[in-house]
Amino acid sequence: MANLSYIGLGMMGGRMAARLLSKGHAVTGYNRTRSKAEALAGDGLRIAGTPREAAAAADVTFVMVANSEALKSVADGGDGFIAGLSAGKMIVDMSTVSPALSRELASRVRGTGADMVDAPVSGSVLTLEQGKLSIMVGGDRATFDRLKPLLEDIGPKVTYVGANGLAVSMKIATNISVAVQMLAFAEGVLLAEKSGIPRQTAVEVMTHSAIGSPMLQYRGPFVLQMPGEAWFNTTMMQKDLRLALEMGRELGVPLPTTSTTNEWLTATRAIGLADDDFAAVFQALARAAGEQR
Ligand SMILES: NC(=O)c1ccc[n+]([C@@H]2O[C@H](COP(=O)([O-])OP(=O)(O)OC[C@H]3O[C@@H](n4cnc5c(N)ncnc54)[C@H](OP(=O)(O)O)[C@@H]3O)[C@@H](O)[C@H]2O)c1
Repeated sequence: MANLSYIGLGMMGGRMAARLLSKGHAVTGYNRTRSKAEALAGDGLRIAGTPREAAAAADVTFVMVANSEALKSVADGGDGFIAGLSAGKMIVDMSTVSPALSRELASRVRGTGADMVDAPVSGSVLTLEQGKLSIMVGGDRATFDRLKPLLEDIGPKVTYVGANGLAVSMKIATNISVAVQMLAFAEGVLLAEKSGIPRQTAVEVMTHSAIGSPMLQYRGPFVLQMPGEAWFNTTMMQKDLRLALEMGRELGVPLPTTSTTNEWLTATRAIGLADDDFAAVFQALARAAGEQR
């Protein structure tokens, strides 16, 4: 069993830390809002006061924070995790952030004698709880080989993608479809409903049809009943689309459906649904279709 740390115990990170504890690993946890770490103390989580303390306490430190700014804030400075690293330690950054930042951070981590891989995930809280998460890994191949059994304790599908930063590029490329599919689904449900078909029937037919991807099967029903707490909120989804649009500009790849979906997520935030699950894009579209709320 490995000596692990987990930095960032939000929707995803908290569940992953719990999963690692349930597999018998010793896990130290850090979260900016300490109460989320304390909630896992009953499962055996030891609590660190700073990211530096977390990294110093473990051979392998996982990181899963919201975005590039959050990653910088837990990595840098006297209390940041880089300050807690030394030769032989490993960082596994699972956050979806800018590929350039991920590469830069990996190079700074190597400067301490430690190593880092980017290991973002595709899936949701449900996929994670069901043990069906897909993990992509970028970095040194030998480091990946050492980490693979640990990553398999989180999700069964672990794929080596290539050098540092490429796994986050892969993840961003994948997440385009999550948002675009949700918008197309919203369009279809509204079209059916305006034709006189009950919304519930439309959702049932569409999620069980050829277009019913694993994502639509769990998120499609959100247009009938939104979850109390967002599984992945509108702001976070838009963060991923913006990363994709930046990559598209840099690499000369037109992303027409990403651009359109991004605009609809702006509209969703504009009607006050930034913190709702991004399935709320349905509500923005429904309003544009004349539905009163
Ligand atoms: N939810 C999903 O379905 C899903 C799926 C795949 C990938 N992801 C990716 O997983 C990552 C985390 O997502 P999540 O759903 O777990 O989000 P979340 O529940 O909002 O958790 C975000 C985490 O980041 C921390 N954080 C945010 N800003 C920070 C800052 N400035 N300094 C330090 N810590 C900060 C939060 O700390 P506090 O608790 O103090 O706010 C929390 O631990 C994101 O990169 C997301 O794109 C999410």
